[in-house]
Amino acid sequence: MRVLFVCLGNICRSPLAEGIFRHHVEQAGLADQIEVDSAGTGGWHVGELPDPRSIEVAARHGIDLTVQRARQFTPEDLRRFDHVMVMDRSNLNTVRRHTRSGDTARVALMMEEAPERPEIEVPDPYYGAGDGFQRVYEMIDAASAALLERVRGEL
Ligand code: 4NP
Repeated sequence: MRVLFVCLGNICRSPLAEGIFRHHVEQAGLADQIEVDSAGTGGWHVGELPDPRSIEVAARHGIDLTVQRARQFTPEDLRRFDHVMVMDRSNLNTVRRHTRSGDTARVALMMEEAPERPEIEVPDPYYGAGDGFQRVYEMIDAASAALLERVRGEL
């Protein structure tokens, strides 16, 4: 089972989602059955570490993002992954533009997994204040727990 998280730059939101979801997977003892990755629809930051603010908020929760490097989303991801979880509608549109017949991934907005939360999109925290990253962390953490329940039922 393979799960991919997608945002714009692959340095703020989707690296957090990769780290948080992997943490949930490891805590559930499912690390050998669920592969986790992230990518950005844009290529500006390819090869870079996650944003220091994402690294910091994850570290506060015991999650290490420094093992990650940014990469760009490719259309092949829609065949390699079972779930492609996208942070906002703009990036969802970009991903959907790349769909071809034969694609196997379920493509969905991340916050669809957490209907108890009012947000539909995970807001881009790149240009905002630091507390935006804590809010993003909480949103993604809630959605990750629900996503793991869904994925676990498909194993
Ligand atoms: P992300 O945030 O999509 O959550 O990684 C962004 C990071 C960088 C840029 C935009 C969004 N940028 O334009 O460089």
